[in-house]
Amino acid sequence: GGAGPLSGLRALVTSGPTHEPIDPVRYIANRSSGRQGHAIATALARQGAETTLVSGPSQLPDPPGLKTLHVQTAEEMLAACQTSLPVEIAVCAAAVADWRSAAPAQQKMKKNGAPAALELTANPDILAELSKAGSLRPSLVIGFAAETENVVAQAREKLARKGCDWILANDVAPESGTFGGENNQINLIRAEGVEPWPQMTKVAVAERLCREIAATLGR
Ligand code: C5P
Repeated sequence: GGAGPLSGLRALVTSGPTHEPIDPVRYIANRSSGRQGHAIATALARQGAETTLVSGPSQLPDPPGLKTLHVQTAEEMLAACQTSLPVEIAVCAAAVADWRSAAPAQQKMKKNGAPAALELTANPDILAELSKAGSLRPSLVIGFAAETENVVAQAREKLARKGCDWILANDVAPESGTFGGENNQINLIRAEGVEPWPQMTKVAVAERLCREIAATLGR
């Protein structure tokens, strides 16, 4: 933490995809770049928050001025988040794999012995877990809802189901260019209502989010 409107506060940010092993050389993953999560962690640290970034595999360098914990799987990400509590601010921007292999093979699976099906099991929902962390629940728990249709309606439902405070809903339809791109278009969803933000860079989204956080926490 340093000087700035968020000094004295602690923040936790998840970012990037997760990799879920199928065998020692194969994994389930997704197209998340980590850009939005890393930008949010950077902005929170710059505003003075003592920040921990829990990052899945990403090409991005570790941002300066904060602590980065590297993980591969959703289970590792949840454990790293839990060891980073207590914090006042949690932002879950990671694109966590919803499923993992129920029984990753110990050895590389051979073509001739290939199974007809891959058995999957559900991963923990880190945003939901942080939202119901009891006495360790952060004051402000913020998630994303990346949707390709009915963005606001699905995000409202997600806010209620996961028990978080705010959802930043964004359109990730292929033509939006959001996944892997520089820009994002957000609707900020809170119990009080929906605030549409203009299209802006992921860095600008991070800065605006920090301003909203500071205002809400009375900074
Ligand atoms: O359910 P869905 O994946 O659409 O929810 C997205 C939000 O939930 C994001 O904030 C994401 O970081 C978080 N999430 C999570 N753990 C999961 C799945 C999603 O933290 N297993």
